[in-house]
Amino acid sequence: MTYETYNEFRSDTFTVPTKEMIQSVLDCSVGDSVYKEDKDTLELESYVAKLAGKEAGLFCCSGTMSNQIALRAHLYQPPHRILCDYRAHVYSHEAGGLATLSQAMVTPVIPANGLYLTLDDIIANFIPDDGNIHMAPTRVVSLENTLSGLVYPLDELKRISHWCHDNGVKLHCDGARLWNAAAEGDVSVGEICKYFDSVSLCLSKTLGAPIGSLLVGDRAFIEKANHFKKQNGGGLRQQGMLARMALIAVKDNFPKLKETHKWAKEFGKWCEENGIALEVPVQTNFVFIDFSKVKLNPSVWDESCKKYNVRTMGNRISFHYQNTPDAIESLKKALLEAYKDSLVNPYVRKGAPSLYRASSSGSDSTMVEKEKQAAKAI
Ligand SMILES: Cc1ncc(COP(=O)(O)O)c(C=O)c1O
Repeated sequence: MTYETYNEFRSDTFTVPTKEMIQSVLDCSVGDSVYKEDKDTLELESYVAKLAGKEAGLFCCSGTMSNQIALRAHLYQPPHRILCDYRAHVYSHEAGGLATLSQAMVTPVIPANGLYLTLDDIIANFIPDDGNIHMAPTRVVSLENTLSGLVYPLDELKRISHWCHDNGVKLHCDGARLWNAAAEGDVSVGEICKYFDSVSLCLSKTLGAPIGSLLVGDRAFIEKANHFKKQNGGGLRQQGMLARMALIAVKDNFPKLKETHKWAKEFGKWCEENGIALEVPVQTNFVFIDFSKVKLNPSVWDESCKKYNVRTMGNRISFHYQNTPDAIESLKKALLEAYKDSLVNPYVRKGAPSLYRASSSGSDSTMVEKEKQAAKAI
Protein backbone atom coordinates (compact mmCIF):
# COMPACT_ATOMS: atom_id res chain seq x y z
CA MET A 1 0.00 0.00 0.00
CA THR A 2 1.61 3.28 -1.03
CA TYR A 3 -0.95 5.71 0.39
CA GLU A 4 -1.53 6.02 4.14
CA THR A 5 -5.09 6.64 5.30
CA TYR A 6 -4.78 6.27 9.08
CA ASN A 7 -4.45 10.07 9.47
CA GLU A 8 -6.90 11.03 6.71
CA PHE A 9 -9.86 12.99 8.09
CA ARG A 10 -10.83 14.95 4.97
CA SER A 11 -13.43 12.46 3.80
CA ASP A 12 -14.35 8.80 3.96
CA THR A 13 -13.76 8.80 0.20
CA PHE A 14 -10.03 8.62 0.94
CA THR A 15 -10.24 5.01 2.10
CA VAL A 16 -8.11 2.79 -0.11
CA PRO A 17 -8.70 -0.77 -1.35
CA THR A 18 -7.41 -3.46 0.98
CA LYS A 19 -5.00 -6.22 0.03
CA GLU A 20 -7.93 -8.68 -0.08
CA MET A 21 -9.74 -6.45 -2.54
CA ILE A 22 -6.74 -6.09 -4.82
CA GLN A 23 -5.90 -9.79 -4.69
CA SER A 24 -9.49 -10.73 -5.51
CA VAL A 25 -9.14 -9.04 -8.88
CA LEU A 26 -6.80 -11.80 -10.12
CA ASP A 27 -9.66 -14.20 -10.69
CA CYS A 28 -12.53 -11.80 -11.29
CA SER A 29 -14.91 -12.20 -14.21
CA VAL A 30 -14.09 -10.25 -17.36
CA GLY A 31 -17.36 -10.19 -19.29
CA ASP A 32 -18.73 -7.11 -21.02
CA SER A 33 -21.10 -5.52 -18.54
CA VAL A 34 -22.70 -3.25 -21.13
CA TYR A 35 -24.10 -6.49 -22.55
CA LYS A 36 -24.91 -7.69 -19.00
CA GLU A 37 -22.41 -10.51 -19.45
CA ASP A 38 -20.15 -9.83 -16.50
CA LYS A 39 -20.74 -12.35 -13.72
CA ASP A 40 -19.23 -10.38 -10.82
CA THR A 41 -21.15 -7.25 -11.75
CA LEU A 42 -24.41 -9.18 -11.94
CA GLU A 43 -23.64 -10.76 -8.58
CA LEU A 44 -22.91 -7.41 -6.95
CA GLU A 45 -26.03 -5.82 -8.45
CA SER A 46 -28.31 -8.58 -7.27
CA TYR A 47 -26.61 -8.85 -3.85
CA VAL A 48 -27.09 -5.14 -3.07
CA ALA A 49 -30.58 -5.03 -4.63
CA LYS A 50 -31.56 -7.90 -2.34
CA LEU A 51 -30.08 -6.13 0.71
CA ALA A 52 -32.12 -3.06 -0.24
CA GLY A 53 -35.28 -5.11 -0.85
CA LYS A 54 -35.52 -3.92 -4.46
CA GLU A 55 -36.02 -5.79 -7.74
CA ALA A 56 -32.87 -4.64 -9.48
CA GLY A 57 -29.54 -2.87 -9.12
CA LEU A 58 -27.23 -0.99 -11.45
CA PHE A 59 -23.52 -0.51 -10.89
CA CYS A 60 -22.54 3.08 -11.71
CA CYS A 61 -19.10 4.59 -11.77
CA SER A 62 -19.92 7.24 -9.14
CA GLY A 63 -22.54 8.49 -6.71
CA THR A 64 -23.01 11.57 -8.85
CA MET A 65 -23.87 9.42 -11.83
CA SER A 66 -26.29 7.17 -9.94
CA ASN A 67 -28.08 10.14 -8.36
CA GLN A 68 -28.30 12.12 -11.57
CA ILE A 69 -29.50 9.30 -13.81
CA ALA A 70 -32.00 8.23 -11.13
CA LEU A 71 -33.54 11.69 -10.96
CA ARG A 72 -33.51 11.94 -14.75
CA ALA A 73 -35.23 8.57 -15.06
CA HIS A 74 -38.02 9.69 -12.69
CA LEU A 75 -38.76 12.74 -14.82
CA TYR A 76 -40.46 13.10 -18.19
CA GLN A 77 -41.17 16.39 -19.90
CA PRO A 78 -40.25 19.79 -18.43
CA PRO A 79 -41.36 22.04 -16.88
CA HIS A 80 -40.78 20.01 -13.76
CA ARG A 81 -39.14 20.38 -10.40
CA ILE A 82 -37.25 18.48 -7.72
CA LEU A 83 -37.61 19.31 -4.03
CA CYS A 84 -34.67 18.67 -1.73
CA ASP A 85 -32.80 19.93 1.31
CA TYR A 86 -30.76 23.04 0.46
CA ARG A 87 -27.62 21.11 1.52
CA ALA A 88 -28.40 18.10 -0.69
CA HIS A 89 -25.44 16.78 -2.64
CA VAL A 90 -27.62 16.30 -5.75
CA TYR A 91 -28.28 20.02 -5.76
CA SER A 92 -25.21 21.67 -4.34
CA HIS A 93 -22.30 19.40 -5.32
CA GLU A 94 -23.11 17.66 -8.57
CA ALA A 95 -21.93 20.32 -10.99
CA GLY A 96 -25.40 21.62 -11.78
CA GLY A 97 -26.41 18.23 -13.23
CA LEU A 98 -30.09 18.70 -12.40
CA ALA A 99 -30.20 21.74 -14.69
CA THR A 100 -28.35 20.14 -17.59
CA LEU A 101 -29.33 16.47 -17.46
CA SER A 102 -32.91 16.83 -16.18
CA GLN A 103 -33.72 20.42 -17.15
CA ALA A 104 -35.25 20.60 -13.70
CA MET A 105 -36.11 23.51 -11.47
CA VAL A 106 -35.05 22.83 -7.90
CA THR A 107 -36.75 23.87 -4.66
CA PRO A 108 -33.95 23.81 -2.07
CA VAL A 109 -35.61 23.84 1.35
CA ILE A 110 -34.13 24.79 4.72
CA PRO A 111 -35.45 22.31 7.30
CA ALA A 112 -37.55 24.10 9.93
CA ASN A 113 -36.00 21.93 12.66
CA GLY A 114 -32.47 22.74 11.44
CA LEU A 115 -31.71 19.04 10.97
CA TYR A 116 -33.80 17.24 8.33
CA LEU A 117 -36.81 17.90 6.10
CA THR A 118 -40.13 16.86 7.56
CA LEU A 119 -43.36 16.19 5.69
CA ASP A 120 -44.55 19.65 6.81
CA ASP A 121 -41.50 21.24 5.13
CA ILE A 122 -42.24 19.30 1.96
CA ILE A 123 -45.94 20.15 1.86
CA ALA A 124 -45.18 23.82 2.51
CA ASN A 125 -42.86 23.92 -0.52
CA PHE A 126 -44.67 21.52 -2.85
CA ILE A 127 -45.85 22.89 -6.19
CA PRO A 128 -48.86 20.87 -7.44
CA ASP A 129 -49.65 20.27 -11.10
CA ASP A 130 -52.89 22.20 -10.83
CA GLY A 131 -53.01 24.08 -14.11
CA ASN A 132 -51.09 27.12 -12.88
CA ILE A 133 -48.96 27.76 -15.97
CA HIS A 134 -46.59 30.06 -14.08
CA MET A 135 -45.15 27.21 -12.04
CA ALA A 136 -43.03 24.10 -12.63
CA PRO A 137 -44.75 21.26 -10.72
CA THR A 138 -42.86 19.13 -8.18
CA ARG A 139 -42.42 15.61 -9.57
CA VAL A 140 -39.68 14.25 -7.33
CA VAL A 141 -38.64 14.65 -3.69
CA SER A 142 -34.99 13.77 -3.16
CA LEU A 143 -33.77 13.10 0.39
CA GLU A 144 -30.28 12.32 1.65
CA ASN A 145 -29.56 9.78 4.40
CA THR A 146 -27.30 10.42 6.17
CA LEU A 147 -27.04 14.18 5.60
CA SER A 148 -24.35 15.98 7.58
CA GLY A 149 -23.99 12.65 9.35
CA LEU A 150 -27.58 12.79 10.64
CA VAL A 151 -29.78 9.71 10.51
CA TYR A 152 -33.29 10.24 9.10
CA PRO A 153 -35.94 9.16 11.63
CA LEU A 154 -37.87 6.22 10.17
CA ASP A 155 -41.23 7.59 11.28
CA GLU A 156 -40.67 10.74 9.26
CA LEU A 157 -39.55 8.75 6.22
CA LYS A 158 -42.71 6.71 6.48
CA ARG A 159 -44.90 9.80 6.57
CA ILE A 160 -43.10 11.38 3.63
CA SER A 161 -43.16 8.16 1.62
CA HIS A 162 -46.92 7.67 2.06
CA TRP A 163 -47.65 11.25 1.17
CA CYS A 164 -45.47 11.11 -1.97
CA HIS A 165 -47.12 7.89 -3.05
CA ASP A 166 -50.61 9.33 -2.52
CA ASN A 167 -49.69 12.47 -4.47
CA GLY A 168 -47.96 10.88 -7.47
CA VAL A 169 -44.54 12.19 -6.43
CA LYS A 170 -41.46 9.97 -6.79
CA LEU A 171 -39.15 9.67 -3.79
CA HIS A 172 -35.41 9.26 -4.34
CA CYS A 173 -32.73 8.77 -1.71
CA ASP A 174 -29.12 9.81 -2.04
CA GLY A 175 -27.97 7.02 0.22
CA ALA A 176 -24.26 7.58 -0.25
CA ARG A 177 -24.01 6.85 3.49
CA LEU A 178 -27.28 5.02 4.06
CA TRP A 179 -25.03 2.19 5.24
CA ASN A 180 -24.13 4.35 8.22
CA ALA A 181 -27.79 5.13 8.93
CA ALA A 182 -28.61 1.41 8.92
CA ALA A 183 -25.63 0.51 11.09
CA GLU A 184 -26.37 3.27 13.60
CA GLY A 185 -30.10 2.56 13.81
CA ASP A 186 -29.57 -1.20 14.01
CA VAL A 187 -31.97 -1.66 11.11
CA SER A 188 -31.46 -3.43 7.81
CA VAL A 189 -30.63 -1.49 4.66
CA GLY A 190 -33.95 -2.74 3.26
CA GLU A 191 -35.88 -1.29 6.22
CA ILE A 192 -34.80 2.19 5.12
CA CYS A 193 -34.86 1.61 1.34
CA LYS A 194 -38.46 0.36 1.37
CA TYR A 195 -39.72 3.93 1.73
CA PHE A 196 -38.06 5.06 -1.53
CA ASP A 197 -38.70 4.46 -5.22
CA SER A 198 -34.96 4.62 -5.87
CA VAL A 199 -31.82 4.67 -3.76
CA SER A 200 -28.23 5.43 -4.67
CA LEU A 201 -25.86 3.51 -2.38
CA CYS A 202 -22.22 4.56 -2.60
CA LEU A 203 -19.55 1.88 -2.41
CA SER A 204 -16.46 4.05 -2.53
CA LYS A 205 -17.03 6.17 0.57
CA THR A 206 -17.63 4.83 4.02
CA LEU A 207 -17.47 1.18 2.81
CA GLY A 208 -14.07 1.62 1.20
CA ALA A 209 -14.43 0.24 -2.34
CA PRO A 210 -12.20 2.09 -4.81
CA ILE A 211 -14.98 3.03 -7.25
CA GLY A 212 -18.69 2.85 -7.63
CA SER A 213 -22.23 3.35 -6.55
CA LEU A 214 -25.22 1.01 -6.76
CA LEU A 215 -28.56 2.36 -7.90
CA VAL A 216 -31.53 0.23 -6.81
CA GLY A 217 -35.21 0.32 -7.71
CA ASP A 218 -37.80 -1.65 -9.61
CA ARG A 219 -36.77 -3.40 -12.82
CA ALA A 220 -38.42 -0.99 -15.28
CA PHE A 221 -36.88 1.98 -13.51
CA ILE A 222 -33.40 0.41 -13.54
CA GLU A 223 -33.73 -0.30 -17.28
CA LYS A 224 -34.55 3.34 -17.88
CA ALA A 225 -31.68 4.51 -15.67
CA ASN A 226 -29.32 2.20 -17.54
CA HIS A 227 -30.27 3.96 -20.76
CA PHE A 228 -29.23 7.31 -19.25
CA LYS A 229 -26.10 5.72 -17.79
CA LYS A 230 -25.04 4.67 -21.30
CA GLN A 231 -25.97 8.03 -22.76
CA ASN A 232 -23.71 9.74 -20.24
CA GLY A 233 -20.71 7.59 -21.04
CA GLY A 234 -21.16 5.33 -18.03
CA GLY A 235 -21.29 2.04 -19.94
CA LEU A 236 -18.22 0.35 -18.46
CA ARG A 237 -17.04 -2.82 -20.22
CA GLN A 238 -14.93 -5.29 -18.18
CA GLN A 239 -15.94 -3.88 -14.83
CA GLY A 240 -15.81 -7.21 -12.99
CA MET A 241 -12.67 -6.14 -11.16
CA LEU A 242 -14.50 -3.15 -9.69
CA ALA A 243 -17.54 -5.21 -8.80
CA ARG A 244 -15.38 -7.84 -7.11
CA MET A 245 -13.67 -5.24 -4.90
CA ALA A 246 -16.99 -3.57 -4.12
CA LEU A 247 -18.59 -6.83 -3.02
CA ILE A 248 -15.74 -7.38 -0.56
CA ALA A 249 -16.20 -3.82 0.69
CA VAL A 250 -19.90 -4.40 1.34
CA LYS A 251 -19.41 -7.75 3.05
CA ASP A 252 -16.27 -6.96 5.09
CA ASN A 253 -16.62 -3.30 5.95
CA PHE A 254 -20.30 -2.74 6.65
CA PRO A 255 -19.88 -4.34 10.12
CA LYS A 256 -17.02 -1.92 10.89
CA LEU A 257 -19.05 1.27 10.54
CA LYS A 258 -20.40 1.43 14.09
CA GLU A 259 -16.86 1.60 15.45
CA THR A 260 -16.21 4.69 13.30
CA HIS A 261 -19.37 6.27 14.73
CA LYS A 262 -18.05 5.60 18.22
CA TRP A 263 -14.81 7.42 17.36
CA ALA A 264 -16.73 10.37 15.90
CA LYS A 265 -19.06 10.60 18.90
CA GLU A 266 -16.17 10.47 21.36
CA PHE A 267 -14.37 13.14 19.37
CA GLY A 268 -17.51 15.32 19.29
CA LYS A 269 -17.91 14.93 23.06
CA TRP A 270 -14.27 15.86 23.56
CA CYS A 271 -14.78 18.99 21.39
CA GLU A 272 -17.73 20.12 23.48
CA GLU A 273 -15.92 19.42 26.75
CA ASN A 274 -13.17 21.72 25.50
CA GLY A 275 -15.55 24.52 24.47
CA ILE A 276 -15.31 23.77 20.73
CA ALA A 277 -18.86 24.23 19.41
CA LEU A 278 -20.36 21.84 16.87
CA GLU A 279 -22.83 22.64 14.09
CA VAL A 280 -24.98 19.53 14.41
CA PRO A 281 -25.13 16.61 16.84
CA VAL A 282 -22.79 13.72 16.03
CA GLN A 283 -24.78 10.64 15.07
CA THR A 284 -22.54 8.73 12.64
CA ASN A 285 -19.06 9.29 11.20
CA PHE A 286 -18.92 13.08 10.74
CA VAL A 287 -18.13 15.88 13.18
CA PHE A 288 -18.87 19.44 12.01
CA ILE A 289 -17.08 22.18 13.92
CA ASP A 290 -19.09 25.39 14.04
CA PHE A 291 -16.70 27.83 12.35
CA SER A 292 -19.06 30.76 12.91
CA LYS A 293 -18.73 30.26 16.68
CA VAL A 294 -15.23 28.82 16.82
CA LYS A 295 -13.25 31.46 15.02
CA LEU A 296 -10.39 29.28 13.78
CA ASN A 297 -7.98 30.92 11.41
CA PRO A 298 -7.91 28.55 8.38
CA SER A 299 -4.16 28.93 7.91
CA VAL A 300 -3.46 28.31 11.61
CA TRP A 301 -5.73 25.25 11.44
CA ASP A 302 -3.92 23.95 8.34
CA GLU A 303 -0.49 24.55 9.88
CA SER A 304 -1.49 22.86 13.09
CA CYS A 305 -2.73 19.80 11.17
CA LYS A 306 0.55 19.66 9.28
CA LYS A 307 2.49 19.87 12.53
CA TYR A 308 0.60 16.91 14.03
CA ASN A 309 0.52 14.97 10.75
CA VAL A 310 -3.22 14.79 10.19
CA ARG A 311 -5.13 15.72 7.05
CA THR A 312 -8.31 17.79 7.34
CA MET A 313 -10.39 19.97 5.03
CA GLY A 314 -12.52 22.80 6.38
CA ASN A 315 -14.85 22.25 9.30
CA ARG A 316 -15.92 18.65 8.60
CA ILE A 317 -13.98 15.91 10.34
CA SER A 318 -14.68 12.60 8.69
CA PHE A 319 -13.98 9.25 10.34
CA HIS A 320 -13.57 5.95 8.50
CA TYR A 321 -12.48 2.43 9.30
CA GLN A 322 -8.87 3.01 8.25
CA ASN A 323 -8.25 5.71 10.89
CA THR A 324 -6.29 4.77 14.00
CA PRO A 325 -6.71 5.80 17.67
CA ASP A 326 -3.22 7.38 17.56
CA ALA A 327 -4.19 9.55 14.60
CA ILE A 328 -7.32 10.67 16.48
CA GLU A 329 -5.14 11.71 19.43
CA SER A 330 -2.95 13.75 17.03
CA LEU A 331 -6.07 15.33 15.57
CA LYS A 332 -7.15 16.44 19.05
CA LYS A 333 -3.74 18.06 19.63
CA ALA A 334 -3.95 19.87 16.29
CA LEU A 335 -7.45 21.15 17.00
CA LEU A 336 -6.69 22.23 20.55
CA GLU A 337 -3.67 24.23 19.40
CA ALA A 338 -5.62 25.99 16.63
CA TYR A 339 -8.55 26.59 19.00
CA LYS A 340 -6.30 28.19 21.65
CA ASP A 341 -4.96 30.51 18.96
CA SER A 342 -8.55 31.42 17.96
CA LEU A 343 -9.29 32.55 21.54
CA VAL A 344 -6.46 35.07 21.33
CA ASN A 345 -6.74 35.91 17.61
CA PRO A 346 -10.36 35.27 16.56
CA TYR A 347 -10.59 34.94 12.81
CA VAL A 348 -13.10 37.17 11.03
CA ARG A 349 -14.03 36.25 7.47
CA LYS A 350 -13.71 39.10 4.99
CA GLY A 351 -16.06 39.77 2.10
CA ALA A 352 -19.66 38.80 1.52
CA PRO A 353 -20.55 35.19 2.24
CA SER A 354 -21.97 33.21 -0.66
CA LEU A 355 -25.04 31.10 -0.08
CA TYR A 356 -23.67 27.81 -1.31
CA ARG A 357 -19.97 27.81 -0.75
CA ALA A 358 -18.42 24.37 -1.12
CA SER A 359 -18.67 22.66 2.25
CA SER A 360 -15.03 21.63 1.98
CA SER A 361 -14.04 25.18 2.78
CA GLY A 362 -16.17 25.20 5.90
CA SER A 363 -19.68 26.35 6.56
CA ASP A 364 -20.77 29.62 7.99
CA SER A 365 -24.16 29.96 9.62
CA THR A 366 -24.44 33.59 8.54
CA MET A 367 -24.95 32.28 5.00
CA VAL A 368 -27.93 30.33 6.19
CA GLU A 369 -29.27 33.31 8.09
CA LYS A 370 -28.99 35.40 4.95
CA GLU A 371 -30.87 32.84 2.93
CA LYS A 372 -33.59 32.59 5.57
CA GLN A 373 -34.05 36.35 5.39
CA ALA A 374 -34.13 36.22 1.60
CA ALA A 375 -36.70 33.44 1.68
CA LYS A 376 -38.90 35.48 4.03
CA ALA A 377 -38.71 38.48 1.70
CA ILE A 378 -40.04 36.57 -1.34
C1 LIG B 1 -23.94 12.60 0.05
C2 LIG B 1 -23.20 12.35 -1.23
N1 LIG B 1 -23.87 11.98 -2.32
C3 LIG B 1 -23.26 11.76 -3.49
C4 LIG B 1 -21.90 11.91 -3.63
C5 LIG B 1 -21.26 11.72 -4.96
O1 LIG B 1 -20.41 10.65 -5.04
P1 LIG B 1 -19.21 10.58 -6.10
O2 LIG B 1 -18.11 11.38 -5.53
O3 LIG B 1 -18.94 9.12 -6.17
O4 LIG B 1 -19.73 11.12 -7.38
C6 LIG B 1 -21.14 12.30 -2.50
C7 LIG B 1 -19.68 12.48 -2.61
O5 LIG B 1 -18.98 12.70 -1.67
C8 LIG B 1 -21.81 12.52 -1.28
O6 LIG B 1 -21.15 12.91 -0.18
